[in-house]
Amino acid sequence: MAVRDFEAAARATLDPVHADFIAGGAHDEITVRANEAAFRRLRLLPRVLRGSAERELGVELPGARARMPVLLSPTAFHRLLVPEGEVAAARAAASAGALMIASMASTVAIGEVAEAARKAAPDGEQPALWFQLYIQPDLEITEALVRRAADAGCQALVVTVDSPVHGTHERNRRNGFHDLPPGLRCENLVDLRDGESGHVRQIVMSPEISWTQVDWLRRITDLPVLLKGVLHPEDARLAVRHGVDGLLLSNHGGRQLDTVPATLELLPEIAAAVGGRIPVILDGGVRRGTDVVKALALGASAVGIGRPVMWALADGGEAGVGRLLELLRDEVDDALALCGATGVRDVGPELVRPPAPPG
Ligand code: FNR
Repeated sequence: MAVRDFEAAARATLDPVHADFIAGGAHDEITVRANEAAFRRLRLLPRVLRGSAERELGVELPGARARMPVLLSPTAFHRLLVPEGEVAAARAAASAGALMIASMASTVAIGEVAEAARKAAPDGEQPALWFQLYIQPDLEITEALVRRAADAGCQALVVTVDSPVHGTHERNRRNGFHDLPPGLRCENLVDLRDGESGHVRQIVMSPEISWTQVDWLRRITDLPVLLKGVLHPEDARLAVRHGVDGLLLSNHGGRQLDTVPATLELLPEIAAAVGGRIPVILDGGVRRGTDVVKALALGASAVGIGRPVMWALADGGEAGVGRLLELLRDEVDDALALCGATGVRDVGPELVRPPAPPG
């Protein structure tokens, strides 16, 4: 089984409206396709006769340590797919030693997600768990969310900054999919605002957010703050200047502004802009162990996966996500061995080559 096979397996039983919610992107989905295509274009150029019996796959990230360089990017609404929802993903991640970024729009409250991760982690290991946040125009609500994440034991905050407004997903519009079905709520939002407690509409996108709110966030929390969705090298430099602890180089899996470049194409420029001062994590289109090695070679500290987790969850719940992570771990290990690398830190730009021009 390969990572891409989880999609077909999930679709066998999944409501097609929910499958469209997962697979879809903004407008013409040009960036959705570009993300994967960029990995296909880049070539690996291995070294020989310098490997080791075992590869070191562990990574140190702000506030957390993970046993593999692949993390779970934040994805909303897991209970659409399985009754346990985010608890299933958190258990699988904690067992595999993979970092999970829990979405603010999760259908299980962050405290319960964290508790499930703690119980599933091997003895003595602290599960790596971060919380993704959309800064709300109402800063009191934002502060309450930060408190919920900190109380749950999350080790960092990931602020998604590519969503001043919602991306337009034409598949969802065609399908009339705008809401969670009855019985499901955005549990982190419950009791934070008057009115429909936990309704998706309570997550407000704010076109007016700026560096002022990022600075404010850093003042009100001791947790490391990472930004998700910075694409421009100038913004990466600003992030460093504002004391941000890391970047997730992400175009939201092509779900926000369509026609932006593939994240892999931007990685060398972003890595150069931050100059090793903070870690850069890439997501978008990662589907193979070789993709992971390519991203590491171009300067990423780790990579994230979004849709594969959703497909695996729909296909097999906790066990499905467990199989997905094991598969990726093994593929990364094999790819490193075949590249003559002793581990994640042993991967540099000399291992990749752009493809020959067509002709
Ligand atoms: C997402 N993504 C996302 N990002 C975020 O910051 N908050 C969120 O709640 C969500 N929710 C979400 C739902 C679904 C169904 C998908 C597919 C994606 C974006 C996600 O974190 C990540 O950036 C991309 O999914 C990465 O690209 P791939 O791996 O899906 O190609």
